[in-house]
Amino acid sequence: MPDGTSLTTNDRAAKRISRRTFIKGVITSGIAVSSASYLFRATLSGQGTASLPERLITLSVNGQQRRVDVATQETLAWTLRYKLGLTGTKLGCDRAECGSCTVLIDDVPYYSCSVLTHTVRARKVLTIEGLASPNGKLHPVQQGVVDEQGFQCAYCMPGFIMSAVAYLKANPNPTRAELAHGVSGNLCRCQDYDKILTSLMRGAEYMRRASHA
Ligand code: FES
Ligand code: FES
Repeated sequence: MPDGTSLTTNDRAAKRISRRTFIKGVITSGIAVSSASYLFRATLSGQGTASLPERLITLSVNGQQRRVDVATQETLAWTLRYKLGLTGTKLGCDRAECGSCTVLIDDVPYYSCSVLTHTVRARKVLTIEGLASPNGKLHPVQQGVVDEQGFQCAYCMPGFIMSAVAYLKANPNPTRAELAHGVSGNLCRCQDYDKILTSLMRGAEYMRRASHA
């Protein structure tokens, strides 16, 4: 029969073994869990490839062809800002209420926070960054805003400008009330509407001049 010392030694050895076994078990089960989740994800993604659209797509943005990795549920605003670095498109409400994210798609204004990027693959997207001429000359509406200093914080400005540009293409000589109605899908938290309208009317005037030049 073992004495107390050898019993203690054996106990310690047994504890070391069981501790080693325990740790090994944890690591093994951890790997097993990781492997399982990896396999689960792989299985999910494998299942999805037949029905999900291709992630790496080409977009036409500001006259350039841009290759970009886009998730299925990704909005155009997200892609523009966080994948393509076009942060001139602002995110306000992110739910089709404020108009801060307005961009033109085939010359029609859209809330880019509410457009899925995959749906615009064959279409032309124009953001505030693409409005000026390649030589750096500002668009007449941008120039009108500069000249009239029409915004306070200017967070809403890109959206207003994009909406106004689209509206003025269809109605180049609006009354102030008509133009106000034309950009009524855009909100300004600073409530600087009077100065904004003065700026956009100035932009309309510059657009007419440019078209007659
Ligand atoms: S951020 Fe898109 S409408 Fe407000
Ligand atoms: S100027 Fe500040 S939100 Fe419009």
